[in-house]
Amino acid sequence: MTTSYWRSASEDEAMQDAHRFVWHAMLETIDVDLAGTRVLDVGCNRGGFLRLLADDCAIHEGFGYDPAAAAIEDARRLAGHRPLRFASATAPPAAWGGFDVAFSHEVLYLLDDLSAHAAAIFRALKPGGVYYAVMGVHAASPLMAAWHEQNVETMSLPPLYTLDHVAATFHDAGFEVAASRLCVRFIPITARHLTEGRLLDWLDYYYNQKILLRFSRPGSAAGLQPKRIRR
Ligand SMILES: C[S@@+](CC[C@H](N)C(=O)[O-])C[C@H]1O[C@@H](n2cnc3c(N)ncnc32)[C@H](O)[C@@H]1O
Repeated sequence: MTTSYWRSASEDEAMQDAHRFVWHAMLETIDVDLAGTRVLDVGCNRGGFLRLLADDCAIHEGFGYDPAAAAIEDARRLAGHRPLRFASATAPPAAWGGFDVAFSHEVLYLLDDLSAHAAAIFRALKPGGVYYAVMGVHAASPLMAAWHEQNVETMSLPPLYTLDHVAATFHDAGFEVAASRLCVRFIPITARHLTEGRLLDWLDYYYNQKILLRFSRPGSAAGLQPKRIRR
């Protein structure tokens, strides 16, 4: 699998901080209980999402991979004594498997070979396991389509995918496919949003166009429990 350009690790800390509110929205939206599970984070960067899962969701153990080697070094250092492991890689390491749940946040748009990725995650999950993948960079998202057009060459990005294409690719790999809008609440407003003067467009992006795809591997071995609803 080839890999697109990714920016320097020095910019990754700010990016991961900026993503925190989306990670909370992902956890609000998913429909399984993560307590006691073995979790894979695809494109984990500095490991911030896995640290959140270890600290707040009582996962049993977490594994993250990412081709950004400097970010992976940071992830290892920041993990402390949490039950987390990291690898610098473009695909799940062969020795990793048996996951109950996998996640990715804004990684699918960077992958040249979605079919190979879908097959690799299918193998890495237990039967009955679930892959939750968030995708805002897709063809029906006007802000992201413009961003993609500006960056496709410098970042060696693949063509912009449609959500339909992504869903069909995972369906063909054997997954049951479902989709949800993210349960996003307040969205931090940054200087970038203010200078662009497109605040409502950004709200529309986060509320309506950034989609959580759920790819379920058929079977029951994972034994995942539905998330308890707070009342
Ligand atoms: C937009 S960032 C998202 C990072 C992280 N998921 C987050 O929420 O902050 C995309 C990440 O995907 C990684 N990436 C690029 N190609 C990849 C591949 N083939 N497999 C896994 N991750 C990849 C990049 O290095 C980068 O860390």
